[in-house]
Amino acid sequence: MATNYPEVEEVKARALQSFAKEFGVAATVCVCAPGRVNLIGEHTDYNEGFVLPMALPVVTVIAGRPNDNTKSCKIVSLCEAIGTQSTAEFDCSSRETMKPGEPKWANYVKGCIANFSKPIPGFNAVVVSTVPVGAGLSSSAALEVATYTFLECMTGETSTRPEDKALACQKAEHEYAGVPCGIMDQLISAMGLEGHALLLDCRDLSAKQIPMQHLGDKVFLITNSNAPHKLSSSAYCERRDSCHEAANLLGKKSLREADLQDLDVLRSKNASEVTVKRARHVISEIKRALEAAQSLENNELERFGRLMNESHDSLRDDYEVSSKELDTLVSIARGVDGVLGSRLTGAGFGGCTVTLLKRDAVDTVIRLVKEK
Ligand code: GLA
Repeated sequence: MATNYPEVEEVKARALQSFAKEFGVAATVCVCAPGRVNLIGEHTDYNEGFVLPMALPVVTVIAGRPNDNTKSCKIVSLCEAIGTQSTAEFDCSSRETMKPGEPKWANYVKGCIANFSKPIPGFNAVVVSTVPVGAGLSSSAALEVATYTFLECMTGETSTRPEDKALACQKAEHEYAGVPCGIMDQLISAMGLEGHALLLDCRDLSAKQIPMQHLGDKVFLITNSNAPHKLSSSAYCERRDSCHEAANLLGKKSLREADLQDLDVLRSKNASEVTVKRARHVISEIKRALEAAQSLENNELERFGRLMNESHDSLRDDYEVSSKELDTLVSIARGVDGVLGSRLTGAGFGGCTVTLLKRDAVDTVIRLVKEK
């Protein structure tokens, strides 16, 4: 299906051309899945909370077709973000023949094949992506969702609900990339709509599309610190464990069910101050995400910006996932007239910031970031 973004259509055209050049025949399937920016609701998804991401016109495209071989697949990845080409060839007929290995990017593809709802034929494909890798804009989820959609189109099995598709892709990431991520990235990549943010309830996976046409003279600006984030690093797992420990101590299924008074209960149960801080971030961030969704719907953008600022401060001080680069970007942006709010986005430890600002303040922010 065509999108309204010329830059996305160009990526598709390049993938189709590259496939024809590489394999000497035309592709019969061409699919795409977007990266995302999370506007607010950070580290809440694995606590059954709310998140508010939006899909971006940076995408992963897969063009390909079944080959005459029932077992093997050959996939060429042209990663435009880092300008490299790499090829993966493997037997895709069973989990046993698709053990995770090198190249790493192919593990996401293997994981999706392994978690697809039915056996697939051998195939050839080209992957082209404009989602920057390691920037916290969900390059992995875009590759997973594009792979799953590719398999759907190739097999005609298109009845999977987007929630189930996202769950299969999340499982692929857990099993094949060893990253214990939440469900946000796969859900937004599978469900994101142009011109909308998506309020996701990560407890029951229900979703509400929130139109953003009324932003008027305000825009979201994404700034890449170019300090790669390392999601598989133990810091993400440690945060996850602290949250689960806090919920256990409170006798609750997740921190979604907790409120700020529960922090005293945690203290009375001898939870460490670190655990209390982690819980305080999550409990307050779940509230902020809901309130932010409401303010976006009511066009109360000043309020939205304030919530973004509070979110960053809480991620920096209580969740401790910011970095010097991210704090610097945020403070440069916040110092500019016309900026309503700025925060780190994604897992943290590097990656990007997202800023809500007046369109006519964008150039000033960019200039100051470059200068400083
Ligand atoms: C990564 C994970 C998500 C989520 C965010 C933090 O992007 O993949 O599931 O936990 O970090 O909000």
